[in-house]
Amino acid sequence: MEAVVSFLSFILFLLLSSAMVGFAHNYSVHLHLYFLERVAGSPNATSVVSVNLHPESPAGGFGNIKVIDSILLEEPEPSSPAIGRLQGLVVYSDLTGPNAMTALNLVFNAGDYNGSSLAMFGRYELRRVSDQSIIGGSGQFWLARGYALSQRIASTTTTLIDVLDVYITYP
Ligand SMILES: *[C@@H]1O[C@H](CO)[C@@H](O)[C@H](O)[C@H]1NC(C)=O
Ligand SMILES: *[C@@H]1O[C@H](CO)[C@@H](O)[C@H](O)[C@H]1NC(C)=O
Repeated sequence: MEAVVSFLSFILFLLLSSAMVGFAHNYSVHLHLYFLERVAGSPNATSVVSVNLHPESPAGGFGNIKVIDSILLEEPEPSSPAIGRLQGLVVYSDLTGPNAMTALNLVFNAGDYNGSSLAMFGRYELRRVSDQSIIGGSGQFWLARGYALSQRIASTTTTLIDVLDVYITYP
């Protein structure tokens, strides 16, 4: 009898906890995007090196700070439809390599999420998959939480393209 009661309370516990999880996070979304940076100094640049302590290696010298307003794309081709911008700060903060602390907003200006934004914070590692935190959002993305994986997939002397996979939940 005792075993039956505890089995039933276990089932009840499972039902209650799944109901609570359902209440806390109604939406679970995976966004697959690309971002295009037109490098500082090139035509229509989407980035500027605002603190340049190392003119010999402007992109990644320790202490350098870059401000970006890069283009969020649906597909990897620079000519593919833009759905927003990636705006904010890139601070080169690793003495051993071109890795950065980033504080960036994904600002959607077309598509299903037009008018909403996601706040992304974390570490960008040039030669690896970067794993950054989604720490909030605006519009449809109020109280969003999750993570974003990104990686450089193409570069020329004037353009850089990264793939970005964003996994979020929000109420
Ligand atoms: C820069 O922007 C102008 C105006 O939108 C455009 O005509 C030109 O093709 C762009 N240049 C490059 C290199 O993207
Ligand atoms: C995005 O939303 C703004 C403001 O509501 C609107 O003016 C604009 O046309 C929308 N853009 C697209 C591509 O839907």
